[in-house]
Amino acid sequence: MNDPQRYREAWEGYWEATSDEPGEAIWDADPSLSAVPHSELLLPYADASLPVVDLGCGNGTQTRYLATRFAHAIGVDLSHAAIGHARRADTEGVAEFAQLDLTDGDAVRALHERIGDANVYMRAVIHQGEAEARPAVAAAVATMLGARGRAFVAELTPASKDVLRLAAQGPDGPPKKLRRVYDHGLKPADAAEEEVPDLLRAAGLTTLDSGHTALPQTERLSDGTRIDLPARWFVLAVG
Ligand SMILES: C[S@@+](CC[C@H](N)C(=O)[O-])C[C@H]1O[C@@H](n2cnc3c(N)ncnc32)[C@H](O)[C@@H]1O
Repeated sequence: MNDPQRYREAWEGYWEATSDEPGEAIWDADPSLSAVPHSELLLPYADASLPVVDLGCGNGTQTRYLATRFAHAIGVDLSHAAIGHARRADTEGVAEFAQLDLTDGDAVRALHERIGDANVYMRAVIHQGEAEARPAVAAAVATMLGARGRAFVAELTPASKDVLRLAAQGPDGPPKKLRRVYDHGLKPADAAEEEVPDLLRAAGLTTLDSGHTALPQTERLSDGTRIDLPARWFVLAVG
């Protein structure tokens, strides 16, 4: 998919077809399996009195948890429908949500000007984006950090494709939540092994800590095993 408009429509269509039910999106894991351990990796490096921005926040499940660990939490996403889900799910109004395309440098700079240097949480955004747009997404991380922010970025590795292939080979084909991803023309785990660290470096980001992990999904293989997708994580600063 090399067409920004089709890409936007794919995500809008996906989120429009998704209900408000927690876990309906295959990646919508409980924060205890995601933002909780990720915050423990980020916080030793971060100033929690700065806001945190969840880039590509989807329905905001992780953003709402981040709001409990940082002074203020803002979730931004390309999809208007995703932001609608995020706002409805935030019944206590703990976070702020806004539609924003990370490849729109002016919009990202305007957000940085409004809130100042911020910490960043970005989970599973670059790996599936259009290849041409990935450098701009990495640049958005650097813009939001400025001098004082720190980022936690987790992205699927190509090994995830093998797990997804296995999942799709079940007796009934891909499980329902995974089929929905493919039906909307989305391409998980499309980035090459070293592409994400290379993009982050090229955006002027220095890795302070990193490791391998797996992102637990809300879907299971036909034998009942939870689908966990291999990923790499990075704690980053500008410079
Ligand atoms: C796989 S989902 C992950 C959602 C969320 N980060 C999470 O972990 O639950 C990827 C999200 O990134 C958003 N996204 C993709 N490209 C984007 C862009 N250029 N700007 C902002 N959001 C984007 C999609 O709309 C989608 O909600």
